[in-house]
Amino acid sequence: MEIKNNYLEKVITLDGPAGSGKSTIAKMLAKEMGYYHIDSGAIYRAYTYAVIKKIGYLNSPEEFGDVFLKEKINPEQFSLQVYFENDTQIIKLDTEILNEQLRTRELTERIKYIADNISYRYKVNQILRDLAVRYPVIVDGRDMGTEVFPESRYKFYIDASIEVRAKRRYEEYIQNYKKNHIDIEEIKKEIQKRDEQDKNRKIGALKIPEDAIIIDTSNLTRNMVLNLLLTYLQKKF
Ligand code: CDP
Repeated sequence: MEIKNNYLEKVITLDGPAGSGKSTIAKMLAKEMGYYHIDSGAIYRAYTYAVIKKIGYLNSPEEFGDVFLKEKINPEQFSLQVYFENDTQIIKLDTEILNEQLRTRELTERIKYIADNISYRYKVNQILRDLAVRYPVIVDGRDMGTEVFPESRYKFYIDASIEVRAKRRYEEYIQNYKKNHIDIEEIKKEIQKRDEQDKNRKIGALKIPEDAIIIDTSNLTRNMVLNLLLTYLQKKF
């Protein structure tokens, strides 16, 4: 029992809503501490990508959700591997390494069906725990401190105002896709919708772990957030 729980000493969880900056901070923190960063959202995105490859985008997210449920597509039928290479998380579907293709708006609109599904949550949690047993990890997501690693000693909840989160996402889209016809108000609505979905899902919902340190990044630079986290961690380690 003791050995099994030992690995939790080396797990740092960062939960928070879309656009709060947790992935960026988790990456910086991992580099600083010599830990490995796991982006759990990217694994949900990868399974969504795998399902899209199988059934297509269809006419709407709702139709996609209906077909996904009707065809009972379970995660075991996909050969998805998550591992580290040069300290970076790699996600591979068959022989395809997944990166930018996971971050499109069309895919994001369809994640809900996969993230709400118990088989996929179970599978992703298993992947995360397997990695955490083997590596010291900083893992970001929605339910890391509450459901996946409730016994981890170091938990943070990273938040920011809806305006700041929408602005960050907007800038990300402009930079990545060189599109400037995106409406920031539309992005704000998308984020609000996803907040609703994330907070109200039956299992794995986004919530603040009881023993988490809450950080609002709305008015802080990345380096300020990083230093804040390091200060908290130094006090605890
Ligand atoms: O980057 P962004 O914050 O937009 O999202 P993400 O972290 O890549 O996660 C994408 C979606 O996966 C989220 O909106 C959640 O619905 C879902 N997710 C989840 O259900 N549980 C997690 N631990 C991580 C992500």
